Amino acid sequence: MPKLSIFQCIDCGNEYDIHEIRYRCNCGELLEVIHDLHTSIPDPEKWKCSLDNHLNQTSFHRYKDILFPSSPKDSIISLQEGDTPLYDVSGSFTDFGSLWLKHEGMNPTLSFKDRGMVAGVTWANYLKCEIVICASTGDTSASMAAYSSAAPNMKGIVLIPHGKISSEQLAQPIASGALTIGIESDFDGCMQLVQQLTEKHNIYLLNSMNSIRIEGQKAIGIEALHQLDWQVPDWFVIPVGNAGNISALGKGLRELHELGIIDKLPRLAGIQTIGASPMFESYKNGYSKLIPQKAKPTKASAIQIGDPVSYKKAINELKHFNGLIETVTEIELMDWKAKIDSMGISICPNSSVAVAGTMKLRQTGIINETDNVVVILTAHGSKFSNTAVEYHQDASNRYSNETIIIKPDINELEKVISS
Ligand code: F0G
Repeated sequence: MPKLSIFQCIDCGNEYDIHEIRYRCNCGELLEVIHDLHTSIPDPEKWKCSLDNHLNQTSFHRYKDILFPSSPKDSIISLQEGDTPLYDVSGSFTDFGSLWLKHEGMNPTLSFKDRGMVAGVTWANYLKCEIVICASTGDTSASMAAYSSAAPNMKGIVLIPHGKISSEQLAQPIASGALTIGIESDFDGCMQLVQQLTEKHNIYLLNSMNSIRIEGQKAIGIEALHQLDWQVPDWFVIPVGNAGNISALGKGLRELHELGIIDKLPRLAGIQTIGASPMFESYKNGYSKLIPQKAKPTKASAIQIGDPVSYKKAINELKHFNGLIETVTEIELMDWKAKIDSMGISICPNSSVAVAGTMKLRQTGIINETDNVVVILTAHGSKFSNTAVEYHQDASNRYSNETIIIKPDINELEKVISS
């Protein structure tokens, strides 16, 4: 009788028990969780039809048989994540077959990280881990802090690059009661420290190099397809930093395809900023070895990452889905943020990297005018209010909308309104 879930090395294929606390194979490579999906979903068509009867459950519960069938029911730590909106904006972008925005910023801690964290913290709770830790550019830390504080007996520790995350992101772990440590380094420096620490101490690592988190994150693509009544788009476009999310997106879609629930594969496009583009450089050179970069500051600070941990997983998925990597400039990403914000959909600058990339791929004809496209928006604009205020205060910006200050005088007010 095969086990329902195991760890397997993405390189040498070595297998490990899922209950081991382990993030890498003995050969040093990352692990992937492999499920016996034919046992958890013996009749895929029946499973697919049954999902509509479970719309009152949280997304993690509803898709559990494909996300993480081994997840222990009694240990689940959920903050009601998921069921995020899928906006059809095709009416405003008529040069696509259709264009959809999946807004992961509408999760409890305002980013997609909650999708993986429900799986990670649930597993930590089940394993009775009392201390959990992550390195973060601001969103993993917010999410891990919230979920660990919702668990019965768990302390969260977050390592963040000092001075490099937004004040809203900094407020989140502090308010949740996590031990919040600013490191005088960048994300890659924080990530190295977390790995060193968890090798030496009994502290559970909850970055996406912990492959349990990837299983929860698969829900984004699966839920989007369910919302689209399983009509597979031509493209999924997603911003890429540490490369966990694109790996999760690919794995979830791959598993749906293997089960026969979808009958074709979409293409994947990962988008980075010009100054933090190690994946792009590798892609340009035929997926040559990753050369770590010193990532340059960007308004998309959550993806200012030069040495993505999940690089190899992401490359495997990109190859499987005939994918590609593109880059965008600071001006492009900020203008597209303003444009989408002005449609009533508040997005963060990391999300707008994906929007700007989509538009660039459309302009260059890689995405064509009949293609159906889903863009993953990864966090809410409210996490980056300074970025928006700065943009709109500068009249030289394309879509700026400056605040006008006046005396408390009716004549002045009328003058402003009529001008
Ligand atoms: N968008 C946002 C809002 C993010 O916070 C991140 C990553 C990404 C995109 C990229 O996802 O790393 O899986 O490729 N944030 C991590 C963090 C690194 O610490 O919050 P990825």
